[in-house]
Amino acid sequence: MNNGAVQMTNVSMTFDGVQVLHGVDLNIAPGEIHGLVGENGSGKSTLVKILGGLYTPDKGSQIRFHGRTVALPVRDPQRVGLSIVHQDLALVETMSVADNTGVSTNYERRLVAPVSARREARVVRRLADHFGIKMDPNRLVGDLSPAERSVVAILRALRQLGDGSQGKLVILDEPTASLSRGSPFAFSSCCESWPVMAPQCFTSATIWTKF
Ligand SMILES: Nc1ncnc2c1ncn2[C@@H]1O[C@H](COP(=O)(O)OP(=O)(O)OP(=O)(O)O)[C@@H](O)[C@H]1O
Ligand SMILES: [Mg+2]
Repeated sequence: MNNGAVQMTNVSMTFDGVQVLHGVDLNIAPGEIHGLVGENGSGKSTLVKILGGLYTPDKGSQIRFHGRTVALPVRDPQRVGLSIVHQDLALVETMSVADNTGVSTNYERRLVAPVSARREARVVRRLADHFGIKMDPNRLVGDLSPAERSVVAILRALRQLGDGSQGKLVILDEPTASLSRGSPFAFSSCCESWPVMAPQCFTSATIWTKF
């Protein structure tokens, strides 16, 4: 099989002489939703960070996106349509929800026009509505609860999808762990919305969770 959205083959990772991943194989085909289950410290986040290019895996590891082998570490994952919410959400507390989602997507900017706060808020509101997410784009992230911050990080990832050129894959490294029933984000309905958002592209999501 060589046409999967993502194929990881024989991926290993060693930190300071301690091997934490041992020849992992993972195939994600278009349209699939995967969950990866493992106890604390089993290497879930390490695998995600390798996919996102934050770590260079050991020699012999191989990663393909859409059938193409990529050089390691992975460079510019967004370019191959990979959008990741890392376990550490990496939000800027002094910025608004809209700015946090816009800053990594170069905002909705015309070539020379400045960023318009009103336009940004509109973009984020539309995106949130599409996925059934309740979130005021003008709120300051520093004022949000942990659950709400997770939702902002998910919104940012969904917004980044718009930049994917070859397909769309969302990887969530446990941001839903802090969400409860009745939270502003309903994961199941969000999954259903993905194909609607990008009908020309495959859509998959990987949910990384622990016991
Ligand atoms: N940058 C690093 N340097 C050294 N060791 C690391 C580093 N990152 C992770 N590790 C080690 O690699 C192992 C896997 O960690 P990782 O964070 O990937 O696990 P995890 O499955 O995501 O755990 P959790 O469920 O707690 O999020 C652990 O033993 C951890 O201590
Ligand atoms: Mg982790």
